[in-house]
Amino acid sequence: MSEAVSSATMSPGTMPAGWQVFVSADEVAGAACDVIVEAADKAIAADGVFRLVLAGGTTPEKVYHLLAKVSCDWSRWVFFLGDERCLPVDDAERNSVMAQRCLLDHINTPPDNIHFIPAELGAEQGALRYAEQLSSQLPFHLVLLGMGEDGHTASLFPGHEHDVSELVHAVHNAPKPPSDRVSLSRRCLSDAQRVLVLVTGAGKRAAAQAWRNGEALPVAAITAREQLDVFVDQAAMG
Ligand code: 6PG
Repeated sequence: MSEAVSSATMSPGTMPAGWQVFVSADEVAGAACDVIVEAADKAIAADGVFRLVLAGGTTPEKVYHLLAKVSCDWSRWVFFLGDERCLPVDDAERNSVMAQRCLLDHINTPPDNIHFIPAELGAEQGALRYAEQLSSQLPFHLVLLGMGEDGHTASLFPGHEHDVSELVHAVHNAPKPPSDRVSLSRRCLSDAQRVLVLVTGAGKRAAAQAWRNGEALPVAAITAREQLDVFVDQAAMG
């Protein structure tokens, strides 16, 4: 069990509700794994299923490696992705390929329980097709997110305008390659009982500070029905 650094060690007023600081990225990953398993137990007991949205990027890889070692009834877990890059299905840079490599290839979840984003069809078609799949799956039980150095999350980037009525957006001109992506919308990512955002590494320091200062970053616009947590390591806190 990972222990958060005591918030008492932080000067009062610097830590928004839901933020927990951990000594290292490994500690963040351990605590995140515990939260996800706890949320799964609760969801399966209540609803017979656990609908989990996986984050892309590299930060969650440590969490997925830990989850892959957990002994549980994987047939009750249903996986989605928060965003995907418009690349061929087997491209190493795909979030789906990372999720398979770190977690899904190591557990016996039925293939029908894994809902990847068909971003290989292009941003518009991928968004349309995934929105059709998602409408019957809401609310999610837990959404896992990362944060970019500019405060983006999923593929919701600063300065990008989207139709707020959409569940899934087609994204173009993304500042983080590839430029074409598919992303769940703010509304969709927030339609979850719990949201857990992972922020690690010195590169995220400025965005984490901006978020704490109340800047209108895409990650800061995400909410949750019951609980939103931000797990950050000391390197990202500066
Ligand atoms: C992606 C991710 C993206 C990611 C952040 C953080 O497709 O790149 O979905 O939103 O979560 O950019 O990336 P790192 O975890 O690699 O720092």
